[in-house]
Amino acid sequence: MTPRLQLSGIRKAFGATQALGGVSLEVGPGEALAVIGENGAGKSTLMKVLSGAHSPDAGTMLLDGRPYSPADPLEARRCGVAMIYQELNLVQHLTVAENIVLGVEPGRWGWVNRRERRAQAVRVLAELQSGVDPDAPVSALTIAQQQLVEIARALVHEPRVLILDEPTSSLTGVDVEHLFGVLERLRQRGVSLLYISHFLEECQRVCTRFTVLRDGRTVGGGDLASTSLDQVIRWMVGREVKDLYPRTPHEIGAPVLALNALAGREKPRCARFSIRAGEIFGLFGLIGAGRTETLRTVFGLDPVRSGEVQLDGRSETSTTPARRLRAGVALLSEDRKREGLLLNRSIAENLLLTRLHPVSWCGFVRPQAERRTARSWMDQLEVRAQNEHQAIGELSGGNQQKVAFGRLLYHQARVLLLDEPTRGIDVGSKAAIYLRIGQAAAQGRAVVLVSSYIPELLGVCDTIGVMCRGEITAVRPVADWTEHALIAAAIGQSLDIPHA
Ligand SMILES: Nc1ncnc2c1ncn2[C@@H]1O[C@H](COP(=O)(O)OP(=O)(O)OP(=O)(O)O)[C@@H](O)[C@H]1O
Ligand SMILES: [Mg+2]
Repeated sequence: MTPRLQLSGIRKAFGATQALGGVSLEVGPGEALAVIGENGAGKSTLMKVLSGAHSPDAGTMLLDGRPYSPADPLEARRCGVAMIYQELNLVQHLTVAENIVLGVEPGRWGWVNRRERRAQAVRVLAELQSGVDPDAPVSALTIAQQQLVEIARALVHEPRVLILDEPTSSLTGVDVEHLFGVLERLRQRGVSLLYISHFLEECQRVCTRFTVLRDGRTVGGGDLASTSLDQVIRWMVGREVKDLYPRTPHEIGAPVLALNALAGREKPRCARFSIRAGEIFGLFGLIGAGRTETLRTVFGLDPVRSGEVQLDGRSETSTTPARRLRAGVALLSEDRKREGLLLNRSIAENLLLTRLHPVSWCGFVRPQAERRTARSWMDQLEVRAQNEHQAIGELSGGNQQKVAFGRLLYHQARVLLLDEPTRGIDVGSKAAIYLRIGQAAAQGRAVVLVSSYIPELLGVCDTIGVMCRGEITAVRPVADWTEHALIAAAIGQSLDIPHA
């Protein structure tokens, strides 16, 4: 049988960075291939070449045995290759149906039949069993629903190849299961899937085969069923990762931050917990439970409606982010693109921005000190880049996230508010981040860790609180939690159900 897709010797450089150094792969019709690799390995670049967003410097691509070289993403879609990017790309003020048919070719003589188009959108939405209203504005949808609209948008073109770049990073449990159901049906219809994820358990669920990229080259691959995850990790990292959740012994001291029935604009409705020096406090909940809003309200980004925030026992409820930073409270935002990083500035500038005095003299930045400090942080956090002057926007997703995290540590905050700090981070670098979190606690810093990844919460935290519909419903020491109990609490069930 002719393979659906054959890539051979694909190369792509960005200036001095050889992002792809000769990658080859093959996917059959109805086959799902996992594309795995560390941050900066070249996964997204390869998929962007395939989907027409980048043109390769060398190599050939065959689609159903015929030469394929799309000039842009639209042409790729017309050829049957659609990509769902990690960041959602919907037009917020248009309706669901309008978004889905954007870019569908008009009929003869440029005639756009609106009714027919809407019908097309409705058909695809029904096929996905999405329950999304085709006439709702996209801005009114949850992230999970928007993700489904993205998929619907890819499906109107009847793709033969569907590429998904970390599609579950903004989904939780039920929505992930729904997505997997959709993908399985597509596969049975003969659609080929290319699936990128740092969650290897997911790759095992969705895919049968895998290929591993390292430094822009294919270094291995095989059957997922007959390969252990440890082996896959070894291919990826090039060494053994012994401890995925390294723990640093730390002592818990006096209370630092306390929330007393804190209510924000809409959420949180009632947040109540306190966290002590040297404590790692996990916050679990479904998407939309109000975890992000709680951190934003504490940090002074969102207004406080009622209730109180105490710092070191003093009421300090109304504030601004600048005042919080001065008081040693720092936030790692979930949305690093919008409110975290300055994309066209260098790695060094982004790392050191909020605390310049150690690298300055008389108000001037000392270039050598700046370079040395930035270098040392890049090494500690395994940031992969040309050098410390490279613009942040040119780094891979995971490497951008590492810089955003490093800035908080460099700031020497006493209270670290971390919103999904390991999103998009590869397995090996995750361990490096947990190590830093543990060390911060050992230095007496208080850490709030918002996460949707349960193994990480159970592996890293001292205490875990669960939010459900804007309220903190349970706070317990980590030893008293199980995965099952966390999920039950997050969906608002009683906590005393027996374990499965
Ligand atoms: N527009 C660009 N300009 C310069 N360099 C780039 C650009 N896009 C990607 N790169 C570089 O190419 C390399 C591969 O990046 P890519 O985004 O493909 O990695 P990735 O495997 O998707 O990583 P991640 O898991 O972090 O998303 C990186 O070194 C990155 O810095
Ligand atoms: Mg990527």
